[in-house]
Amino acid sequence: MDLQLKGRVALVTGAASEVGQAIALALAAEGAAVALNYRSSAEAAEATARQITAQGGRAKAYRADVSDFAAVTAMVDSVVRDFGGLNILVNNAGLAKRQRFADSRPDDWRPQIDTCLYGAIHCCHAAIPHLEKGKDGRIVGVIGDSSRVGESGLSIVAAARAGVVALMKSLARELGRSGTTANVVSLGLVETPHDRDWLEQNREKLTRLYPVRRLGKPDDVAPMVALLASPYGGWITGQVLSISGGYSMV
Ligand SMILES: NC(=O)c1ccc[n+]([C@@H]2O[C@H](COP(=O)([O-])OP(=O)(O)OC[C@H]3O[C@@H](n4cnc5c(N)ncnc54)[C@H](OP(=O)(O)O)[C@@H]3O)[C@@H](O)[C@H]2O)c1
Repeated sequence: MDLQLKGRVALVTGAASEVGQAIALALAAEGAAVALNYRSSAEAAEATARQITAQGGRAKAYRADVSDFAAVTAMVDSVVRDFGGLNILVNNAGLAKRQRFADSRPDDWRPQIDTCLYGAIHCCHAAIPHLEKGKDGRIVGVIGDSSRVGESGLSIVAAARAGVVALMKSLARELGRSGTTANVVSLGLVETPHDRDWLEQNREKLTRLYPVRRLGKPDDVAPMVALLASPYGGWITGQVLSISGGYSMV
């Protein structure tokens, strides 16, 4: 299926590795020009951009901390200058600290809320004027199922991401008339190098929570994001889609 992303410009936050990188590669494979945002992983983001251009696509890496509104605005301005517009925003950047709430301190809370909730607010605010120009803009937020069904040890990031769901549903209502959609994909446990030791220690127990009896891979997530970002997603808005091997069914 051709997702008809040729001529579209996408900005993916946290695109240097893992889920964000898989999303960027999937959008590029479908023909979109891709702006890869990173905060600290410059080398990986540049390498991903080179990989896309080597395959005949268009891509460029942009450094910005999404918790910094001025930096996000400057990044979006640069993307629009470089690529001539912006049609798709994927808010994938995230920060999660697994710890018991009672053991956490304000210093633990702020970075997670600043990245996950304010990051999404900043990126949406900077991108929306450009998305609306095209009459078929797309916003896709990436969150975790912890924000919908709760998870011990992830209360702060879950709270921040519940805010993202509310933001996206409200934006879906506000932007619908301009043809811009706003949706969320809500992930179960996707295997990445983070938490590797914890994951290996708990793999059997964790896998039993998933009806399909395996944890996720970044490539389980990317195709659905590409579909929502495509013209085929034009009548899907304000939705939260769980990509979780059946971990949650609400
Ligand atoms: N993996 C899972 O099981 C899982 C489950 C539920 C939800 N999620 C969410 O899904 C998304 C992708 O997951 P993942 O496992 O691929 O995440 P990840 O490996 O932790 O990568 C997160 C990315 O976010 C970027 N980032 C963090 N803070 C940032 C900031 N302030 N400004 C800009 N970029 C920032 C990082 O960029 P740099 O490396 O450049 O700093 C990194 O590339 C994340 O939002 C994550 O919270 C993941």
